[in-house]
Amino acid sequence: MPQFMIVIGGTSSKMLAQDLAKELGCKYIQAHVSRFPDGECYVRIEEENIDDEVVIVQNSHPDYNLVELLLMQDAAVGLGARKVTSVVPYFGYARQDERFKKGEALSAKVMVKLMELSSKRFVTVDVHKPIILDWFRGDAYDVHAAPCIGEFFKGHGVDLVLAPDEGALQRANEVARVIGAECDNLEKTRLSGEVVRMAPKNVDAKDKNALIVDDIISTGGTIEAAANQLKVQGAKSVTAVCTHGLFTKNALDRLRKCCNAVYSTNTIENEVSVISVAPQIAKAIR
Ligand code: R5P
Repeated sequence: MPQFMIVIGGTSSKMLAQDLAKELGCKYIQAHVSRFPDGECYVRIEEENIDDEVVIVQNSHPDYNLVELLLMQDAAVGLGARKVTSVVPYFGYARQDERFKKGEALSAKVMVKLMELSSKRFVTVDVHKPIILDWFRGDAYDVHAAPCIGEFFKGHGVDLVLAPDEGALQRANEVARVIGAECDNLEKTRLSGEVVRMAPKNVDAKDKNALIVDDIISTGGTIEAAANQLKVQGAKSVTAVCTHGLFTKNALDRLRKCCNAVYSTNTIENEVSVISVAPQIAKAIR
């Protein structure tokens, strides 16, 4: 690790930035951010000069956070920062990594191009499509939240870790390994035009304490369907955890009705973001 490093937190990621500074054993500065009456963003880093390496922690989602991130990068460069690392814990627009239909924007690439304007190194967490890191001109790392999630659930009596689909199985496996639990993925079987059955592919969930692990919870529809089916199959308890808790459309309230507990990491700070990914980010930066 370089001798002098400063972590600067933006408004989306204050807790995570402070955790990260502690992990790295370096100085923490909270960026001053306010809004002009017309809604434009104003950013100031209240330091005389910075001749160290700077780590900025700020999400790019929703859009107003992206503007804040870009202004923070420029403010750090303006103060003389030697090298700017941008930690973007939740990278928005990562699902649009292709022009799926003619005439669409290649949104993920646009975001990467903006972020590399004043930044030499880029770190994100469980990015939805890791391929987008290849578009970043400097060094880019995607950190896995699974070791932190696994540590959090160690000793909590989880018997079975489940991925909501086969694509998410690797993450669930990583979590299960740390906990020392069984692992499987849920599989959808269409029984008729309207009826879909969702069940663990290989393992019986009966009388098990199940933990469903996903990268994103947005509307909560995926987890709700999975949790309801696991209860039908006799699971003793169902807990849901995700890396990025977007929880749109009252998702958290709905999930509390079908799950025994819901948690997320602190890539997006919310009322259940109790799992810090700072140790994994610090490892990548070191
Ligand atoms: C899908 O590819 C993702 O991994 C999540 O499963 C999805 O984004 C969850 O969305 P929702 O909470 O709206 O079901």
